[in-house]
Amino acid sequence: MLQDSFGRVATDLRVSLTDRCNLRCSYCMPPEGLDWLPKPELLTAEEIVRLVGIGVERLGITEVRYTGGEPLLRRELVEIVARTVALAPAPQVSLTTNGIGLARLAAPLAEAGLHRVNVSLDTLDRETFKKLAHRDRLADVLDGLAAADAAGLRPVKVNSVLMRGINDHEAVGLLGYCLERGYELRFIEQMPLDAQHGWRRENMITADEILVTLKDAFDLTDADPAERGSAPAELFLVDGGPARVGVIGSVTRPFCGACDRVRLTADGQIRNCLFATDESDLRGAMRAGASDDELAERWTAAVRTKKAGHGIDDPSFLQPSRPMSAIGG
Ligand code: 5AD
Ligand code: SF4
Repeated sequence: MLQDSFGRVATDLRVSLTDRCNLRCSYCMPPEGLDWLPKPELLTAEEIVRLVGIGVERLGITEVRYTGGEPLLRRELVEIVARTVALAPAPQVSLTTNGIGLARLAAPLAEAGLHRVNVSLDTLDRETFKKLAHRDRLADVLDGLAAADAAGLRPVKVNSVLMRGINDHEAVGLLGYCLERGYELRFIEQMPLDAQHGWRRENMITADEILVTLKDAFDLTDADPAERGSAPAELFLVDGGPARVGVIGSVTRPFCGACDRVRLTADGQIRNCLFATDESDLRGAMRAGASDDELAERWTAAVRTKKAGHGIDDPSFLQPSRPMSAIGG
């Protein structure tokens, strides 16, 4: 079991398959992109499946989420998903993606056994999309969403990050769009994870602000709190349900006490928190010939030292040196 010193047990593994991305969302990376990890440092598909297998078969991981960067850019994705689903006991397998390429890949992924997708969608306006993501790809994202739904990857979940003066007037429109199509929307407070260190608290749209805006247009009632469990979203029934909307107050309503996550970066480092300042190198150990037992032991030790919380409000808070794209949402 992956247990930390506060008694939390990690069962949800987030695996970044690549740090590359075909968008440049301003809350994540600068318009010119980043220095991508050199290929030899990336885990191979074989290495990924081996490590995920150790997590699932020996360490109690029950959910595996593939992320990036943009995971659809990883050529072996369908194969990696199929091999993950085939592990015993079979984990839940999902994908966090920007949706570009999903129009083509949703069906093969569903066939490989993928259970669900989370697609990022911050705006429904083409010009705003271009400004926010520095690419003219809104139509591809919307097509990707529709393809995921058609392929049965339901409920399709949508993540939105609102930024002051950019897309904060779109909360109601985004929810309307998702309600019409049966997608489940979650708003996420912007976290200090961008490579260019441009995060300012005053530009973050808070969970409170989002709820005030939504409640103007919709009737929101608390969904059964038992359903929340360790999930970070506070869930609300929209207009009596069954449709729901989530608000993730990562910064103003931290949920670290219930966190059940652990992360594996694309270059094979275990991070016990998005905001961790250190990592544990499984790639080096694996390439030096470590056995499954030894890798499991390293991984267990890495989780044990997980901190109580992210401490964004602490004066000594330091933004992690890796950007989100290299950690894996
Ligand atoms: N703050 C909040 N959410 C973020 N994401 C990426 N960067 C940030 C950030 N700085 C979101 C993306 C995607 C998921 C992986 O995390 O929108 O939905
Ligand atoms: Fe978990 Fe770290 Fe996120 Fe808190 S900040 S919820 S401890 S991953």
